Amino acid sequence: MNPTTLRALLDNWEQRGLLARVKKEVDPKYELGAVIRHFNGAKPLLFEKLKGYNTPMVAGLGGDRGLMADSMGIMEAELIPKLIEAIVNPIPTRKLGTGPVHENVVMGEFDLEDLFPIPTYHAEDSGQYYVAGVMVVKDITGKKRYTSIRRMQFLEANRTNILITSPELFSQYEYFEERNEPMEIAVMFGVVPAVILSSQVSTHLYHTDKLDIAGALLGQSLDVVQCKTVDLEVLAEAEIVFEGKMLPHIRETEGPFGELAGYYGTISQQPIVEITAVTYRNNAINQTIFPSSYEERLPMALVREATLLGTVRQVVPKVKAVHITMGGVARYHAVIQIEKQSDGDGKQAALAAFASDKDLKHVVVVDEDVNIWNSDDVEWAIATRVQADQDIFIVPGAKGSPLESSHNLRGVSAKMGIDATYPLTHAKDFKRTSVPIKIDIAQYL
Ligand SMILES: Cc1cc2nc3c(=O)[nH]c(=O)nc-3n(C[C@H](O)[C@H](O)[C@H](O)COP(=O)(O)O)c2cc1C
Repeated sequence: MNPTTLRALLDNWEQRGLLARVKKEVDPKYELGAVIRHFNGAKPLLFEKLKGYNTPMVAGLGGDRGLMADSMGIMEAELIPKLIEAIVNPIPTRKLGTGPVHENVVMGEFDLEDLFPIPTYHAEDSGQYYVAGVMVVKDITGKKRYTSIRRMQFLEANRTNILITSPELFSQYEYFEERNEPMEIAVMFGVVPAVILSSQVSTHLYHTDKLDIAGALLGQSLDVVQCKTVDLEVLAEAEIVFEGKMLPHIRETEGPFGELAGYYGTISQQPIVEITAVTYRNNAINQTIFPSSYEERLPMALVREATLLGTVRQVVPKVKAVHITMGGVARYHAVIQIEKQSDGDGKQAALAAFASDKDLKHVVVVDEDVNIWNSDDVEWAIATRVQADQDIFIVPGAKGSPLESSHNLRGVSAKMGIDATYPLTHAKDFKRTSVPIKIDIAQYL
């Protein structure tokens, strides 16, 4: 059975030596983030003591492909097929009368800062932020449930800002706003990587319940309970849940904050959330994700890889694998590996990629003998198989990503496709060297 709860996963990883405990007291202001960032969010860390609080905090659970796969009981190579399978065949959640997340319930007047630490991450951030909560909402019909992650800037007492950049969810908030009604939300902290990963599946593309997708990733139904003050369900074994309402017709200043691409974002006016209840397990384990770290980028990249694979396959059937790179901020760069059938396949694959995802800027297409997970190998293919005048094409003035600074200067984005596959007619000139025996290196060192 795969661990479906944070506690079970941490126990499992600790027994196998995969979890590091930080015993030293750590200040949630900058120090916590500095330690997580040192490992680029790709090492599971359990901070036992945060200055001023008694609750532990975890980070770095889902920033590494191997560990992400391990958390779901699969091999790294199975990540994308498993994700596609889970989107197609979700497993519905099971509703319980009550669950551990309701062991403690705080309602009425309270100050969020008294309950759990609210870290500050970057030098020029405007304040303290919640960055890793998985938010549950229902659509306007009240029938469909979606999860996503949206940062929340702490304002005072039980109020925060919230930043929603997805047009679909924001227009849902505006729908309620036009009716002068609040939009109900619940935010879960302390969940396994599958729940984070499934939250990144595009609502717009799939309209599938993402907690059910998480269930399919883990191979079993996840238990949910009804919230105390909003008409939503949350995971029964989440560590901490904030219930609340996005208020209509009120905006307050949000940002600057260190964004996904590694720059500070702009200051803007964003909606307010009034937290109506905080519920949590006994000895709750809090959770964060360092902004822009691999732990934030990887779930986004995996979801984009699943979509990209499907689109490119429509025009180049023998596409082997796709890699949305971490260096390319999990959305601007893709490497596509194909088994070329005809000489146009390389450029066709790049064109399909651009058509499938407006955020992509630079796409490299390589042959089967290139390791797309190794940037040196991809560079080698570019160095030895590309002639810039023939193998690179540029499409100027296309749509781009509003999160990308060079796009925002101009309002449009250029797309560059690099066909780093060799011409089929010259296959024998591009045969890689090899050594004709296999060795077991352990026998030599
Ligand atoms: C760690 C993390 C933090 C994120 N923070 C935000 C955020 O502050 N605002 C936002 O709009 N999207 C944020 N995202 C991206 C959304 O969660 C993502 O677009 C969404 O889940 C996809 O679902 P959607 O199609 O419903 O938007 C974040 C993603 C991750 C992994």
